[in-house]
Amino acid sequence: MSRERGSLAQAYAASAPAWAEAPSRIYQVLADALVAGAPVSLAGRHVADLGAGTGTVSRALIGAGARVVAFDLVAEMLAQGGPGRAPGAVADLAALPVTADAVDAAVAGFVLNHLHDPTAAVAEMARVVRSGGPVLASTFAAQPRHRAKVVVEEAAAAFGYIEPPWYTEMKVEVEPRTARADRLAAVATAAGLVDVAVDERAVNVGADTPEVIAAYRLSMAQFAPFVAGLDDQRRQALHAAVIEALGPDVEPIRPVVLFLAAHVP
Ligand SMILES: C[S@@+](CC[C@H](N)C(=O)[O-])C[C@H]1O[C@@H](n2cnc3c(N)ncnc32)[C@H](O)[C@@H]1O
Repeated sequence: MSRERGSLAQAYAASAPAWAEAPSRIYQVLADALVAGAPVSLAGRHVADLGAGTGTVSRALIGAGARVVAFDLVAEMLAQGGPGRAPGAVADLAALPVTADAVDAAVAGFVLNHLHDPTAAVAEMARVVRSGGPVLASTFAAQPRHRAKVVVEEAAAAFGYIEPPWYTEMKVEVEPRTARADRLAAVATAAGLVDVAVDERAVNVGADTPEVIAAYRLSMAQFAPFVAGLDDQRRQALHAAVIEALGPDVEPIRPVVLFLAAHVP
């Protein structure tokens, strides 16, 4: 594992309980939208949830009647979510411990945007899905920095937060590779998928109030390990400072999402 990949995994491991509390609520809305965009019914199908995190996509898939197996690089993320979780295993999306054609479909919610080689990852998804099966994935579309995100970063910096290098690398170098509809479609096509479609739209994730935005942003993997290292008083003071800085008239965060749907030939 590369140094930055190891740091990313460590950050997710350290933030897993916080992620399960707040970002999961936001990502559940996005997971529901991703699964709702499946080009065929997934009811009764064996589906792999890749980069499953705290289980949002698995939950949406189970709701659609699928039989789910979940994989993630980070055991602590797989351990969140309680007794209703799909069975899972630690695995890198770049090299899944699954034979070819093992599942009917594969879904990856907001994972390709973490990967240096998203084409290899999509090819790996295609390898494990039987011929004709669907492959779904989501990434964030490139957008100007949302004011609320800047406010949170500035408030955290005042408490000593320094952006971790893995996160800077992800935002600057890695994420742009799948942050436009044409690029994501090109990745899917280069990976050998057919019937490639990318739907781009803003999603109302309910990040509307300073309290919700503060909890969501400060529990993301780039912040949560720093926040967890603060004593109780400083942690509460940081949350209060973020809420005050956002103010009651904060513009809601509505991420613009790219939803990829394609098939294995
Ligand atoms: C932003 S979270 C998304 C979680 C979930 N799919 C969702 O939409 O709520 C990204 C997840 O991808 C996982 N991840 C990152 N790189 C990975 C890789 N190479 N292989 C498998 N999982 C990976 C992280 O551990 C994390 O759980």
